[in-house]
Amino acid sequence: TKLDMELAAIEKGGYDHFMLKEIFEQPQTIYDCLRGRLDAEKGTITMSGIQKYAEQIMNANRIIMVACGTSWHAGLVAEYIFEELCRINVEVEYASEFRYRNPVINKGDVIIAISQSGETADTLVAIENAKKQGAIILGVVNVVGSSISRVSDGGAYTHAGPEIGVASTKAFTAQLAVLTMIALKIGYEKGTLDKDRYMRLLDELNSVPDKVKVVLEQQERIKALAEKYKDASDALFLGRGYNFPVALEGALKLKEISYIHAEGYPAAEMKHGPIALVDENLPVVFVATKDSYHEKVISNMQEIKARKGKVIAVITEGDEHSTSLADDVIEVPEADEIVAPMLSVIPLQLLSYYVGVAKGYDVDKPRNLAKSVTVE
Ligand code: G6P
Repeated sequence: TKLDMELAAIEKGGYDHFMLKEIFEQPQTIYDCLRGRLDAEKGTITMSGIQKYAEQIMNANRIIMVACGTSWHAGLVAEYIFEELCRINVEVEYASEFRYRNPVINKGDVIIAISQSGETADTLVAIENAKKQGAIILGVVNVVGSSISRVSDGGAYTHAGPEIGVASTKAFTAQLAVLTMIALKIGYEKGTLDKDRYMRLLDELNSVPDKVKVVLEQQERIKALAEKYKDASDALFLGRGYNFPVALEGALKLKEISYIHAEGYPAAEMKHGPIALVDENLPVVFVATKDSYHEKVISNMQEIKARKGKVIAVITEGDEHSTSLADDVIEVPEADEIVAPMLSVIPLQLLSYYVGVAKGYDVDKPRNLAKSVTVE
């Protein structure tokens, strides 16, 4: 009815779709996630559900991240961050594989379950099993009071608010914000992260919401790129280091929303197979912001150009070298590599959104997908 339609429009807050609304909420949701926890002036991170287990986390031989889908990608980014800042070995597991393969779990192992809904069956059962074997379960969950949050011993909520769009967007960046705070807190208390870098990273984290706003201002540009590339039959997403999982996430978003076959790869690994696909018809999206891997990514970009692939690059503002190599660029503000994924993923969310819309698909409810997979 007309009333239903009007109500739906109100819920979307003036946006055409929930997905777009949720993408645009990210400056606020990331801010909400940091608020009351991170105090950059005092140099503190307050997370009571983590503090209780701080000793165990610091002394853990390893941390296992368990998740599915987009949440699994957040775990992969966290792997790089925890290993760098906390010097703890991290393994990132697909919950569906982990639960069935009789994994080696020792008493005191720390498991971090990452889940937007808190109801994903594979993730839930994986941590239930691990708990029985004596592991400490920490949840990084969005939905308060959900099953995974109840099974968890501790953890932290992402506070991103309800996510309606089936493809996850704001929950992902909130997961990254929470996982980064945990790593900063543990690294600093453990002494593997020195005070200078710690204080600098607190500032960096604090400035993410404003930088996300700047990325979102490029909405029209990204929409134009979506028009340009919407008829591609395949796409490749490449990145290294902290941006490798972002490449995976970019590919997943495009698949989910636009039904274009897309693959994410570590940029160097493309030589071992995917490069065979490169020709003048293949769009290759590089997540190539300035970080310690940058020079290497540039040479991967040259390899794609040499084979006439179309390069679309997400780069750091003012990076002329990448601009001269790429067919199209999307700029994001300069940021420390630890927080960069929260910025570089935003253009990829928008790109998949606009491609899906341009193709006339129902971006909020892509075919065959469910928001929360509560069966196996
Ligand atoms: C489904 C959703 C994805 C989500 C995944 C994990 O596949 O469509 O967007 O990333 O489940 O969900 P969770 O709620 O555990 O994060």
